[in-house]
Amino acid sequence: MFNSSDFSFRPILAAVSVAALLSACGGSSSSPPPIPPKSSSSASSSSVSSEASSSSSSSSSSSEFIAVETDIRLFEQAEFPIGVAVSAANEPFSIFNNTDGSDRRDVIVRHFSELTAGNIMKMSYLHPQEDTYTFGDADELVNFAKSNGMKVHGHALVWHPNYQVPGFMNNYQGDWVAMLTEHVQTIVNHFDDTVVSWDVVNEAISDSPNQGDGWRQSLFYNALPPAVEGDIPEYIKVAFQAARDANPDIDLYYNDYDNTANPGRLNKTLEIAEALQAEGTIDGVGFQMHIYQTYPSISNFENAFQQVVDLGLKVKITELDIAVVNPYGSATPPALPEYNETLMGNQKLRYCQVTEVYLDTVPEAQRGGITVWGLADNESWLMNQFRNATGADYDDVWPLLFNADLTEKPALLGVAEALAGEPCTTDF
Ligand code: XIL
Repeated sequence: MFNSSDFSFRPILAAVSVAALLSACGGSSSSPPPIPPKSSSSASSSSVSSEASSSSSSSSSSSEFIAVETDIRLFEQAEFPIGVAVSAANEPFSIFNNTDGSDRRDVIVRHFSELTAGNIMKMSYLHPQEDTYTFGDADELVNFAKSNGMKVHGHALVWHPNYQVPGFMNNYQGDWVAMLTEHVQTIVNHFDDTVVSWDVVNEAISDSPNQGDGWRQSLFYNALPPAVEGDIPEYIKVAFQAARDANPDIDLYYNDYDNTANPGRLNKTLEIAEALQAEGTIDGVGFQMHIYQTYPSISNFENAFQQVVDLGLKVKITELDIAVVNPYGSATPPALPEYNETLMGNQKLRYCQVTEVYLDTVPEAQRGGITVWGLADNESWLMNQFRNATGADYDDVWPLLFNADLTEKPALLGVAEALAGEPCTTDF
């Protein structure tokens, strides 16, 4: 049950030097206090300290993080999965191979009950060649989750971007239904019940959903288009059927971006959901929710969640991040706002309101969970994404729940307060 007395907090301002920043990115840093085992039912009284980082500062060139110090474990506030996307293997910020990996793992074990691989469970990582599957890196991640009482949400069995489509699938001339079925089933079958759900298909809707038939003209679409006009693409049905046949006990999601406020994308999402529901192969809809301080509106989330709830499916927020700047909102990407307590307070309010509307709209049995897309601000994919998409060069857009030195942001408190049923405020 939600228990508002389960946590307390105090705000701290952590002065962080360039040296400390570098240490958060790979240098040595002090270890947080030991984490009690996941089975512990009471909130921990220890906390992640940021003061060690600031006191190790020796550089005069300093910047500031705004942090709070709580004694909560976020996942204990919820009866549904609280997830985080993580980097693994040899990726930058890997929770295994980065020199601050053990600090990252401690924070993850403290606060989260579910992991998503940010990259290493995508198609080409697991299935690089037609007859070759490589599960070593994913196994390391899944074993880490398992040994710490966490679950894993698989991401993603079928997704179009070139960098993660196995090369052999480009211009594949064989039997696409058989090939796709084998791909999906080999991967689903490999994992044990630690992997409780999958994004079976990601982003099948066109970036311009109101043009043409609205479907993304991907290699999968070209190989297995809609069987009849007005139907959803056949490859989506094939992938979901294959996953369902491989393991009827796991939850299967269709996942997409901007499918709350954009009516075209929401309608297409619902079209997919209903078509798959008729075949009994879908359990829920994933809303990525890479969102901003002012877009979309809370009523957009409410409306979208409600429509999926009305279908009887689960709702999962799969990739939540809240950038403090929206580079798509105007012709020229706006300047980064000043990083200060007002900004962080507003972000806390926003994280709280998103969590609150999820709780208010989605009944307990249909809550697939909330996952944030990354642990600490400086590892977010958004800076690259914004640069590639708009040319905007932001050092950081502070979108996540933890500062670069792994201290807790007011945003984390916002999620916790909503989970505890407390009113959302900018105060911390
Ligand atoms: C992103 C990763 O975070 C980046 O590291 C990678 O370079 C590109 O992909 N929607 C998705 C995720 O479904 O898989 C994407 O992840 C972010 C957008």
